[in-house]
Amino acid sequence: MKFFIDTANLEQIKEAQDLGILDGVTTNPSLMAKEGITGKENILKHYKDICKIVDGDVSAEVIATDFTNMVKEGEELASLNDQIVVKLPMIKDGVKAAKYFSNKGIKTNVTLVFSAGQALLAAKAGATYVSPFLGRLDDISTDGLNLISEIRDIYDNYGFETEILAASIRHTMHIIDCAKIGADVITSPLSSITGLLKHPLTDIGLDKFLKDHKKGN
Ligand code: G3P
Repeated sequence: MKFFIDTANLEQIKEAQDLGILDGVTTNPSLMAKEGITGKENILKHYKDICKIVDGDVSAEVIATDFTNMVKEGEELASLNDQIVVKLPMIKDGVKAAKYFSNKGIKTNVTLVFSAGQALLAAKAGATYVSPFLGRLDDISTDGLNLISEIRDIYDNYGFETEILAASIRHTMHIIDCAKIGADVITSPLSSITGLLKHPLTDIGLDKFLKDHKKGN
């Protein structure tokens, strides 16, 4: 399973990269705004800076909502670096744009996916990644993990190569449950990734080992 970090914060991206487990980055307009990155030139520069830190795929989301401008914007984003994955919303023109980029060999991530039907369309359009938002479904009392499971079954039934990128991850159990279901990728805040490290018995055990070592020396 690939681990992506879901942030535009360069320090957090560096921290995850230094840990040695990072396979890529996802961003969205809200995450860019959170870091105070505004204006086209600054946004494009920020994507280039992220690509310098990580080796893997970096999702960069288009703002346009019509096919012509999605293509224009996506081509500009893709030209920044080979690592860029054009992130497109799950709307009619987003599906058309995913097919267009797929035909051109440009990677795509179809985002804001909340149903199995939407995921099926993303795969039919040849998307590289599909991003079901499991936390936002949980927020409205709908089982987000069940959606991941449904998409896994559908993709396996037909051998679709689109990778399931579980997004809107809120905590460590989301990551573990996605791993059990067989999501190809999780994208998560740094806190949920580093949360996987923690176990009180590890801390107690290490403390005892170090104390016993001191006694014997
Ligand atoms: O990047 C898309 C997704 O991961 C957003 O997560 O926490 O805003 O629902 P969240």
